[in-house]
Amino acid sequence: MNLADSATSPFQLPEAGSRPASESKRELKTQARAFLEAMAADSVAGKWIPDVTERWRNIELEIDSKGTYLHTYKELRFGTRLAWRNSNRCIGRHFWRTLQVVDARQCDTAEDAHRHLANHVNEAFNGGNIQNVITVFPQRKPGAKDAWRMVNHQLIRYAGFKQEEGATLGDPDSVDFTEYCESLGWNGVRTRWTPLPWVMVKDGIVLPPHDPFQSDALTLQEVPIIHPDHGATAELDLRWYAVPLLADMALKIGGVVYPFAPFNGHYLGTEIAARNLTDPDRYNVLEPWAKACGIQPSTQRSLWKDEALVKLNQALLSSFDHAGITMGDHHEMGRAFEGWCQAEAKQGREVPGDWSWLTPPISGSLTPQFHRSFSNAVVTHTNYFYQEPVKVKGMSYPSKAKDTHRLLVGDAFSQDQPPATCPFSKLSSTFKNLWS
Ligand code: ARG
Repeated sequence: MNLADSATSPFQLPEAGSRPASESKRELKTQARAFLEAMAADSVAGKWIPDVTERWRNIELEIDSKGTYLHTYKELRFGTRLAWRNSNRCIGRHFWRTLQVVDARQCDTAEDAHRHLANHVNEAFNGGNIQNVITVFPQRKPGAKDAWRMVNHQLIRYAGFKQEEGATLGDPDSVDFTEYCESLGWNGVRTRWTPLPWVMVKDGIVLPPHDPFQSDALTLQEVPIIHPDHGATAELDLRWYAVPLLADMALKIGGVVYPFAPFNGHYLGTEIAARNLTDPDRYNVLEPWAKACGIQPSTQRSLWKDEALVKLNQALLSSFDHAGITMGDHHEMGRAFEGWCQAEAKQGREVPGDWSWLTPPISGSLTPQFHRSFSNAVVTHTNYFYQEPVKVKGMSYPSKAKDTHRLLVGDAFSQDQPPATCPFSKLSSTFKNLWS
C-alpha cells in the first residue's frame, strides 16, 4: 500500500467536487447530524442550541436546497473548539475550550483579509501572554472556487534563500515558497531570519505578496536563543518567532469545510529546539551549538549530540521565559495532557491520540505519553485536515514535512465518534502517580 496516497488518509480532505451531488448531500447530512449531536451532548455548548429538532429540520432543508448549510455563530465557536479536541496529534488539546473565535466569514477584499490576519497576529501575541485564536474565513460552497486560501504554511515563517554551492540562507523548508514569492516580485532582504510575505489566493486568483513586516504594519515578535551558562551561544545569533500560526490546514465542522481558517496555540520548546533548529534539513545548528557550549563533537558514543540538544532545549525555554513569552515544556504539557485524559476517561470519554506525535522528540520516556497507548481513531465530521496545496503556477511542493505527515497516518482510521473505550489506553499503574 502506498501510504503517501492522500486518498487513503483520514487526515487529508478529498478534493472538492469529486463526488455526485446526491451522495455528497447524504454524506454532509450524516456529518452535520453527528456534529449537532456532539454539540447537544456537550455540558456547556448543549445549552447554546435552544431546540435541536428544529435546528436539524432547518439544516436538512438548507442542504437539500443549497447543497450546504450555514453555521450559527455559536455552532462555529463550538465547532472550531471541538475540531481542536479531535486533533489526535496535538498535546495541547486540554486547552480546547479556551479557543477565541473570530468570525471572518464575510471577508471580501484583500485589505479586509490583511486586516483580519494582522489583528490575529496581535491578538494571539497579546503582549507575550499568548492566546489561542482562530479566524474563520468563508466556507467552501458547492460548484464555486474557494473564496480564500493562502499559499503560506504559517502566517509567520522564515524565508530560505538558495545560495551558490547548494547551501541555504535561512530555513531550507521555505526555499520553494521563497522563490515563488520572489517570482511574484517580492524582494525581501536576504538574511537567515527574514519573515516571508503573505500570499493570498482569492477565488483562485493569486494576489500580489503583502509584506506586513517590511512595511512595519506589524512588529515581528521573536526571541534570541542564548544559553544562560554559555555566553558564547549569543554569537550564533539564533532566534525564533513567538507564535506558531498555521495557515494551510482546512477546518471541517459538521461536514462543512473552511479551507482558510488560520489558528494558533503556543509553542512547545521541543518543536523549535529539537526540530526546527536541529533537524539536518532545517537550521542544522547542533555542531556549532555544541562547540559554543564547550562540548567537543567527538565519537557518537560520547553522546555529545544528546548533551548539546538538552542544552539547546534549556536555552530555548529560559530565553522565552526571560522574554516573558508563553512557552510550553514537554514535562508540564505531558503531565497536564495525561491528567485531562484521565478526567475524560472518568466521564466515559476516551481521548484518542497519535502516540508518535504526542511523545516528544527528546526524553520521550520521561513523559506519561510514552508509557501508554492511544486509539488513533480520527473523528472526521469535525476536525482539522491537511489539504491539497492551493494550485498556483510556478510553485512546487516537495516539502519534506508534508510527506512526513502523510507517511505517519498509516495506522489511523476514520470514525464518526471518538471511541468509547480502548483496551490499551491506560497509563501503566507503575507510572500512574509519577505525574499526578
Ligand atoms: N511544529 C510547527 C513549528 O515548529 C508548529 C505546529 C503547531 N504547534 C503548536 N504548538 N500549536 O512551527
